[in-house]
Amino acid sequence: MFQMVGLPARGKTYIAQKVCRYLQWLSVTTKVFNVGNYRRKLHGAHQEHTFFDPANKQGEIKRRECATEALNDMIRWFEVESGTVAIFDATNSTRARRTFILEACAKHDIQVMFIESVCQDENLVLQNIMEVKLSSPDYKDMDPEKAAEDFRARISHYENQYEPITEKDTTYIKLINVGSQVVLNLIQGYLQSRIVYYLMNLHILPRSIFFTRHGESMFNLMSKIGGDSELSPRGRQYAHELPKVIQNYLGDQKLTVWTSTMRRTIQTAESLPYPKLQWKALDELDAGVCDGMTYEEIEVLTTAAAAFLFWYIENNYCSLLRTIICPFIGLSLYAVFAYAAEYPEDYANRDDDKFNYRYRGGESYRDVVFRLEPVIMELERQQNILIVGHQAILRCIYGYFLNLPQDDLPYIKIPLHTVIKLTPKAYGCDEVRYKVDVDAVDTHRPKPLKLKNTNVNPINSIPATSVLSNAFASLDAPILKRKKLDV
Ligand code: ATP
Ligand code: F6P
Repeated sequence: MFQMVGLPARGKTYIAQKVCRYLQWLSVTTKVFNVGNYRRKLHGAHQEHTFFDPANKQGEIKRRECATEALNDMIRWFEVESGTVAIFDATNSTRARRTFILEACAKHDIQVMFIESVCQDENLVLQNIMEVKLSSPDYKDMDPEKAAEDFRARISHYENQYEPITEKDTTYIKLINVGSQVVLNLIQGYLQSRIVYYLMNLHILPRSIFFTRHGESMFNLMSKIGGDSELSPRGRQYAHELPKVIQNYLGDQKLTVWTSTMRRTIQTAESLPYPKLQWKALDELDAGVCDGMTYEEIEVLTTAAAAFLFWYIENNYCSLLRTIICPFIGLSLYAVFAYAAEYPEDYANRDDDKFNYRYRGGESYRDVVFRLEPVIMELERQQNILIVGHQAILRCIYGYFLNLPQDDLPYIKIPLHTVIKLTPKAYGCDEVRYKVDVDAVDTHRPKPLKLKNTNVNPINSIPATSVLSNAFASLDAPILKRKKLDV
């Protein structure tokens, strides 16, 4: 469990939500328990600053009640819903409160890591109050000046009792002034180190992340998937228009362009007057044996091959003589048939669980998410970035920023010849889409409304076994919450 620590308006909720989004994207069941929401539910949103005054005994009792309720829900979530990582989002600003929570967690064998945010920059704190606190339900319909004054008074009550983390025997990361200084204590295990690395990469400087797919390719025109084809004439036209579009958004701000190592993205970025970087990790989802085929060919070929195999066996065509004379042909036929017999149903099931469906000899969306993890880490560190990418790749990255459920990722609409601009905000992202006036084919395949209720071939629906997924699934989860709890 991660326990946030810090004075109000220090970015605790921001950090909690980011960590939650990152872990959920990596398929780790994660949930934030925000004590402020419990307070609003149990005692109403409109509480004056005096509610938070340590001298106000009634307020103190009520605040502890909220924390206890959140804690109990969290423990229930671990026990009943088999949660993996919980983030306990409150100020947890006194040793007494932290000890109370630590003890409760210890009883349930829940391992705790503290994430403390310290911010001495008064201007930033003021900016945070203006940006998020005045629009919170706590100050709904209130005069902004009075609200800001009340919130500052709330902060000073907390300042009077705040005890920064110094507990030697606890696991913690202390982020000072948005990570310009970082203190680590007793960090252990893969997940904790991963989160430390993630937190060290976060920044809150204003910036935009642009996405565009490559211009229309020759394979797009032929409805073929995969490959490494060139741009079509319309794709080249899009590449020609792209710099103007980006320049309109950016003015003279700096930008770095990331492409995959495939010709269609490199050609699309060719005229962009910015530094460029090629990432192998941005290459399109690998369609394995289906690379270079159309969706129709995949279905028709595999179905025909299966039908032929059926006919072959039924007619006992496999004469001994033929197999002796030409063992090589026999073996090859066997391999093709063995593959084909399995494949049609296998492919037909793709839409049953498209996120997990792995092309034979290729990748699934889940595989792509794990290979994109370093890209996300680097994106968090960077400022303005334009990714000239591919449909499946951009779906996965977009899904991370917009916090979309896994099952929806493979169906996100990322049309050709469209620039998507995401601007990270306190608790989410603003989005603008700009369709460039150059026609292109539509490569989006919507999720079929009615799916066949067939079993997914277990071979191809096994989740990715990347280092990261294994580590999360089997190594760190038991470390975070070791005991197998009785329900
Ligand atoms: P409260 O205790 O009142 O719930 P909080 O500490 O949870 O406050 P947030 O609601 O998360 O504060 O504040 C969000 C703002 O904090 C955002 O505007 C974000 O840019 C900013 N922020 C994010 N990270 C940090 C940080 N490490 N230090 C200071 N501010 C940050
Ligand atoms: O603004 C401070 C705040 O986030 C309140 O919304 C919330 O009630 C409180 O912190 C929860 O933390 P604690 O229980 O430690 O006071």
